[in-house]
Amino acid sequence: MTESVIDEQNLIDHARLAMENAYSPYSQVKVGAALLTKSGMIFSGCNIENGSFGLTVCAERTAVGNAITAGEKEFVAIAISNSTNRIFQPCGACRQVLSEFASNLKVIMVAADDEIERAGLDVLLPGKFRYEMD
Ligand code: THU
Repeated sequence: MTESVIDEQNLIDHARLAMENAYSPYSQVKVGAALLTKSGMIFSGCNIENGSFGLTVCAERTAVGNAITAGEKEFVAIAISNSTNRIFQPCGACRQVLSEFASNLKVIMVAADDEIERAGLDVLLPGKFRYEMD
């Protein structure tokens, strides 16, 4: 699938729908993510916080888990929405997790006021960790 056929608005709509289910009683910030697979499917996720704060799972990693569970491993784009008027860039942990499944994922970040930023994952994470098996 090429960049030109990515329906950005549809992906953003999916991220915003998932965002409504965020479990974020501590930060009060809702985050949603929607991953577009090479095969054209969309898997979404929301942030899931925990009283032991370090166990919080970001929306992006929830979406990755949902896609992998469904047998999808090749991603072309991700939309990341949140409930504030600020753009949320994916955190470092999520960049590394996303990089496992896409060489240059298109990352679309959208704030509640519709401000949009786009970036390639290669730019966001220039030096990904690779596990060498030999
Ligand atoms: N969060 C995400 O879901 N994705 C990110 O890329 C950054 C942060 C969540 C984690 C936490 O629930 C809330 O945003 C505030 O940090």
